[in-house]
Amino acid sequence: MPDASALPDDRALLFELFETTPRQGPGSVATTRRALRLLPDGLRTERVLDMGCGTGGSTLVLAEETGAHVTAVDIHPPFLATLRAQAEARGLGDRITTVVADMGSVDARGTGYDLVWAEGSAYSIGFEQALYSWKPLLRPGGCLVVTELVWFVDQPDERARAFLAVEYPDMRDEATRVRDARGAGYDVIDSFRLPADDWHAYYAGVERPLREAIARRGAQDVYTAMQREQQMYETCGDDYGYVCLVLQTPTRSRV
Ligand SMILES: C[S@@+](CC[C@H](N)C(=O)[O-])C[C@H]1O[C@@H](n2cnc3c(N)ncnc32)[C@H](O)[C@@H]1O
Repeated sequence: MPDASALPDDRALLFELFETTPRQGPGSVATTRRALRLLPDGLRTERVLDMGCGTGGSTLVLAEETGAHVTAVDIHPPFLATLRAQAEARGLGDRITTVVADMGSVDARGTGYDLVWAEGSAYSIGFEQALYSWKPLLRPGGCLVVTELVWFVDQPDERARAFLAVEYPDMRDEATRVRDARGAGYDVIDSFRLPADDWHAYYAGVERPLREAIARRGAQDVYTAMQREQQMYETCGDDYGYVCLVLQTPTRSRV
Protein backbone atom coordinates (compact mmCIF):
# COMPACT_ATOMS: atom_id res chain seq x y z
CA MET A 1 0.00 0.00 0.00
CA PRO A 2 1.29 3.49 -0.72
CA ASP A 3 2.14 5.57 2.36
CA ALA A 4 -1.27 6.59 3.76
CA SER A 5 0.14 9.67 5.52
CA ALA A 6 0.85 11.16 2.09
CA LEU A 7 -2.88 10.94 1.31
CA PRO A 8 -4.55 12.36 4.45
CA ASP A 9 -7.86 13.05 2.69
CA ASP A 10 -7.99 9.66 0.98
CA ARG A 11 -6.64 7.52 3.81
CA ALA A 12 -9.96 5.74 4.35
CA LEU A 13 -10.37 5.07 0.63
CA LEU A 14 -6.85 3.71 0.38
CA PHE A 15 -7.54 1.17 3.14
CA GLU A 16 -10.94 0.36 1.61
CA LEU A 17 -9.33 -0.53 -1.72
CA PHE A 18 -7.31 -3.25 -0.08
CA GLU A 19 -10.10 -4.78 2.00
CA THR A 20 -10.84 -7.44 -0.59
CA THR A 21 -7.40 -7.96 -2.12
CA PRO A 22 -5.49 -11.15 -1.23
CA ARG A 23 -2.42 -9.11 -0.22
CA GLN A 24 -1.86 -5.55 0.90
CA GLY A 25 1.74 -5.55 -0.27
CA PRO A 26 4.03 -7.67 -2.46
CA GLY A 27 3.95 -11.32 -1.41
CA SER A 28 2.40 -14.63 -2.44
CA VAL A 29 1.43 -18.09 -1.30
CA ALA A 30 4.63 -19.38 -2.94
CA THR A 31 6.76 -16.93 -0.98
CA THR A 32 5.11 -17.74 2.35
CA ARG A 33 5.65 -21.45 1.65
CA ARG A 34 9.27 -20.85 0.63
CA ALA A 35 9.96 -19.04 3.91
CA LEU A 36 8.29 -21.84 5.87
CA ARG A 37 10.57 -24.38 4.20
CA LEU A 38 13.59 -22.42 5.44
CA LEU A 39 12.68 -22.78 9.10
CA PRO A 40 15.07 -24.98 11.06
CA ASP A 41 14.31 -28.70 10.72
CA GLY A 42 11.98 -29.96 13.40
CA LEU A 43 11.01 -26.51 14.66
CA ARG A 44 7.83 -26.83 16.73
CA THR A 45 5.16 -24.54 15.27
CA GLU A 46 2.07 -24.85 17.42
CA ARG A 47 1.57 -21.18 18.26
CA VAL A 48 2.09 -18.61 15.56
CA LEU A 49 1.58 -14.85 15.60
CA ASP A 50 1.02 -13.05 12.29
CA MET A 51 1.70 -9.33 12.76
CA GLY A 52 0.07 -6.81 10.40
CA CYS A 53 -1.68 -9.71 8.70
CA GLY A 54 -3.99 -7.60 6.50
CA THR A 55 -6.64 -9.81 4.89
CA GLY A 56 -4.57 -12.85 5.81
CA GLY A 57 -2.70 -13.84 2.65
CA SER A 58 0.03 -15.31 4.85
CA THR A 59 -2.19 -16.26 7.81
CA LEU A 60 -4.20 -18.80 5.82
CA VAL A 61 -1.05 -20.44 4.46
CA LEU A 62 0.48 -20.58 7.93
CA ALA A 63 -2.61 -22.26 9.36
CA GLU A 64 -2.88 -24.70 6.46
CA GLU A 65 0.78 -25.65 6.22
CA THR A 66 1.81 -25.80 9.87
CA GLY A 67 -1.36 -26.98 11.58
CA ALA A 68 -0.66 -24.26 14.16
CA HIS A 69 -3.07 -21.99 15.94
CA VAL A 70 -2.45 -18.60 14.36
CA THR A 71 -3.16 -15.31 16.12
CA ALA A 72 -3.57 -12.71 13.40
CA VAL A 73 -3.11 -9.07 14.41
CA ASP A 74 -4.01 -5.98 12.43
CA ILE A 75 -5.07 -2.44 13.21
CA HIS A 76 -7.70 -2.21 10.46
CA PRO A 77 -10.84 -4.22 11.45
CA PRO A 78 -12.25 -4.69 7.92
CA PHE A 79 -9.09 -6.54 6.88
CA LEU A 80 -9.69 -8.98 9.72
CA ALA A 81 -13.35 -9.39 8.74
CA THR A 82 -12.21 -10.52 5.29
CA LEU A 83 -9.73 -12.90 6.87
CA ARG A 84 -12.37 -14.36 9.20
CA ALA A 85 -14.72 -15.04 6.30
CA GLN A 86 -11.95 -16.78 4.35
CA ALA A 87 -10.86 -18.79 7.38
CA GLU A 88 -14.44 -20.01 7.93
CA ALA A 89 -14.84 -20.86 4.25
CA ARG A 90 -11.70 -23.01 4.36
CA GLY A 91 -12.62 -24.74 7.62
CA LEU A 92 -9.85 -22.95 9.49
CA GLY A 93 -12.11 -20.82 11.69
CA ASP A 94 -11.16 -22.53 14.94
CA ARG A 95 -7.43 -22.31 14.24
CA ILE A 96 -7.21 -18.60 13.48
CA THR A 97 -7.89 -15.92 16.09
CA THR A 98 -8.11 -12.38 14.77
CA VAL A 99 -7.13 -9.50 17.05
CA VAL A 100 -7.61 -5.82 16.33
CA ALA A 101 -4.56 -4.27 17.95
CA ASP A 102 -1.50 -2.16 17.46
CA MET A 103 1.33 -4.58 16.81
CA GLY A 104 3.69 -2.07 18.40
CA SER A 105 2.10 -2.62 21.80
CA VAL A 106 3.05 -6.16 22.61
CA ASP A 107 1.57 -6.62 26.10
CA ALA A 108 -1.80 -7.97 25.07
CA ARG A 109 -0.50 -10.65 22.70
CA GLY A 110 0.92 -13.11 25.25
CA THR A 111 4.32 -14.74 24.96
CA GLY A 112 5.93 -18.11 24.24
CA TYR A 113 5.17 -18.12 20.50
CA ASP A 114 7.02 -20.62 18.34
CA LEU A 115 6.90 -18.34 15.35
CA VAL A 116 6.23 -14.64 14.71
CA TRP A 117 5.48 -13.76 11.09
CA ALA A 118 5.39 -10.30 9.53
CA GLU A 119 5.11 -9.83 5.78
CA GLY A 120 5.51 -6.22 4.70
CA SER A 121 4.37 -4.79 8.03
CA ALA A 122 7.39 -4.32 10.33
CA TYR A 123 8.28 -0.99 8.71
CA SER A 124 5.12 0.62 10.04
CA ILE A 125 6.38 0.49 13.63
CA GLY A 126 10.03 0.77 12.53
CA PHE A 127 12.03 -2.28 11.48
CA GLU A 128 14.46 -2.28 14.39
CA GLN A 129 11.71 -1.47 16.87
CA ALA A 130 9.80 -4.50 15.54
CA LEU A 131 12.83 -6.77 15.96
CA TYR A 132 13.36 -5.70 19.55
CA SER A 133 9.75 -5.54 20.69
CA TRP A 134 8.71 -8.88 19.14
CA LYS A 135 11.67 -10.88 20.46
CA PRO A 136 10.20 -11.26 23.98
CA LEU A 137 7.06 -12.75 22.40
CA LEU A 138 9.07 -15.75 21.18
CA ARG A 139 10.06 -18.76 23.23
CA PRO A 140 13.82 -19.49 23.28
CA GLY A 141 14.64 -21.01 19.89
CA GLY A 142 11.49 -19.54 18.35
CA CYS A 143 11.67 -17.91 14.90
CA LEU A 144 10.80 -14.57 13.38
CA VAL A 145 10.12 -14.36 9.64
CA VAL A 146 9.97 -10.83 8.35
CA THR A 147 9.89 -9.24 4.90
CA GLU A 148 11.25 -5.74 4.47
CA LEU A 149 11.72 -3.27 1.62
CA VAL A 150 15.45 -2.77 1.00
CA TRP A 151 17.93 -1.40 -1.51
CA PHE A 152 19.49 -4.13 -3.63
CA VAL A 153 22.26 -1.88 -5.01
CA ASP A 154 24.70 0.67 -3.56
CA GLN A 155 23.87 3.38 -6.10
CA PRO A 156 20.14 3.23 -6.82
CA ASP A 157 18.60 5.11 -9.71
CA GLU A 158 18.07 8.74 -8.63
CA ARG A 159 14.35 8.54 -9.45
CA ALA A 160 13.85 5.60 -7.08
CA ARG A 161 16.00 7.22 -4.42
CA ALA A 162 13.97 10.44 -4.52
CA PHE A 163 10.63 8.58 -4.55
CA LEU A 164 11.48 6.29 -1.66
CA ALA A 165 13.08 9.08 0.37
CA VAL A 166 9.52 10.34 0.70
CA GLU A 167 7.62 7.03 0.81
CA TYR A 168 9.99 5.22 3.17
CA PRO A 169 12.70 7.50 4.56
CA ASP A 170 14.07 4.77 6.87
CA MET A 171 14.68 2.29 4.06
CA ARG A 172 18.10 0.58 4.25
CA ASP A 173 20.04 -1.99 2.25
CA GLU A 174 19.95 -5.76 2.74
CA ALA A 175 23.26 -5.97 4.60
CA THR A 176 22.10 -3.34 7.10
CA ARG A 177 18.90 -5.22 7.83
CA VAL A 178 20.86 -8.43 8.38
CA ARG A 179 23.14 -6.53 10.78
CA ASP A 180 20.08 -5.07 12.52
CA ALA A 181 18.75 -8.58 13.06
CA ARG A 182 22.03 -9.82 14.53
CA GLY A 183 22.28 -6.68 16.64
CA ALA A 184 18.85 -7.39 18.08
CA GLY A 185 20.07 -10.83 19.14
CA TYR A 186 18.71 -13.11 16.42
CA ASP A 187 20.60 -15.74 14.45
CA VAL A 188 20.08 -15.26 10.71
CA ILE A 189 19.04 -18.67 9.41
CA ASP A 190 18.48 -17.68 5.79
CA SER A 191 17.23 -14.95 3.49
CA PHE A 192 15.93 -14.50 -0.04
CA ARG A 193 14.59 -11.75 -2.28
CA LEU A 194 10.91 -11.77 -3.20
CA PRO A 195 10.43 -12.33 -6.95
CA ALA A 196 9.05 -9.69 -9.33
CA ASP A 197 5.93 -11.89 -9.71
CA ASP A 198 4.96 -11.00 -6.13
CA TRP A 199 4.88 -7.33 -7.09
CA HIS A 200 2.91 -7.97 -10.28
CA ALA A 201 0.31 -10.04 -8.40
CA TYR A 202 -0.05 -7.31 -5.80
CA TYR A 203 -0.73 -4.65 -8.44
CA ALA A 204 -3.04 -6.97 -10.38
CA GLY A 205 -5.04 -7.58 -7.18
CA VAL A 206 -5.83 -3.92 -6.65
CA GLU A 207 -6.66 -3.13 -10.29
CA ARG A 208 -10.37 -3.92 -10.14
CA PRO A 209 -11.16 -2.25 -6.75
CA LEU A 210 -9.26 0.79 -8.00
CA ARG A 211 -11.22 0.94 -11.26
CA GLU A 212 -14.48 0.67 -9.30
CA ALA A 213 -13.42 3.40 -6.87
CA ILE A 214 -12.57 5.70 -9.76
CA ALA A 215 -15.97 5.07 -11.37
CA ARG A 216 -17.81 5.64 -8.07
CA ARG A 217 -16.01 8.65 -6.67
CA GLY A 218 -13.10 9.88 -8.71
CA ALA A 219 -10.34 8.66 -6.39
CA GLN A 220 -7.81 10.56 -8.46
CA ASP A 221 -5.18 11.06 -5.75
CA VAL A 222 -5.20 7.40 -4.77
CA TYR A 223 -5.05 6.38 -8.43
CA THR A 224 -2.08 8.68 -9.03
CA ALA A 225 -0.28 7.35 -5.94
CA MET A 226 -0.77 3.74 -7.03
CA GLN A 227 0.31 4.54 -10.60
CA ARG A 228 3.47 6.29 -9.44
CA GLU A 229 4.36 3.42 -7.14
CA GLN A 230 3.83 0.82 -9.85
CA GLN A 231 5.63 2.77 -12.56
CA MET A 232 8.57 3.31 -10.26
CA TYR A 233 8.79 -0.40 -9.66
CA GLU A 234 8.55 -1.20 -13.38
CA THR A 235 11.31 1.32 -14.13
CA CYS A 236 13.71 0.85 -11.22
CA GLY A 237 12.62 -2.44 -9.63
CA ASP A 238 16.09 -3.98 -10.07
CA ASP A 239 17.41 -1.51 -7.53
CA TYR A 240 15.06 -2.32 -4.66
CA GLY A 241 12.58 -4.87 -3.44
CA TYR A 242 11.67 -7.04 -0.50
CA VAL A 243 14.01 -9.32 1.34
CA CYS A 244 12.67 -12.12 3.50
CA LEU A 245 14.72 -12.80 6.63
CA VAL A 246 14.35 -16.04 8.55
CA LEU A 247 15.59 -15.40 12.09
CA GLN A 248 15.84 -17.44 15.24
CA THR A 249 16.27 -16.52 18.88
CA PRO A 250 19.06 -18.35 20.69
CA THR A 251 17.98 -21.37 22.70
CA ARG A 252 19.95 -20.20 25.72
CA SER A 253 21.03 -16.71 26.72
CA ARG A 254 24.45 -15.51 25.60
CA VAL A 255 27.00 -14.07 27.99
C1 LIG B 1 1.67 -3.63 3.62
S1 LIG B 1 0.38 -4.31 4.55
C2 LIG B 1 0.86 -6.05 4.60
C3 LIG B 1 -0.30 -6.94 4.92
C4 LIG B 1 -0.05 -8.45 4.84
N1 LIG B 1 0.92 -8.89 5.81
C5 LIG B 1 0.40 -8.84 3.46
O1 LIG B 1 1.55 -9.26 3.28
O2 LIG B 1 -0.43 -8.72 2.54
C6 LIG B 1 0.71 -3.78 6.21
C7 LIG B 1 -0.37 -4.18 7.20
O3 LIG B 1 0.00 -3.76 8.50
C8 LIG B 1 -1.14 -3.20 9.14
N2 LIG B 1 -0.64 -2.27 10.15
C9 LIG B 1 0.00 -1.10 9.95
N3 LIG B 1 0.34 -0.55 11.13
C10 LIG B 1 -0.09 -1.40 12.10
C11 LIG B 1 -0.02 -1.41 13.52
N4 LIG B 1 0.60 -0.42 14.19
N5 LIG B 1 -0.55 -2.45 14.18
C12 LIG B 1 -1.17 -3.47 13.52
N6 LIG B 1 -1.26 -3.51 12.17
C13 LIG B 1 -0.72 -2.50 11.47
C14 LIG B 1 -1.95 -2.56 8.05
O4 LIG B 1 -3.31 -2.41 8.40
C15 LIG B 1 -1.73 -3.56 6.91
O5 LIG B 1 -2.69 -4.58 6.95
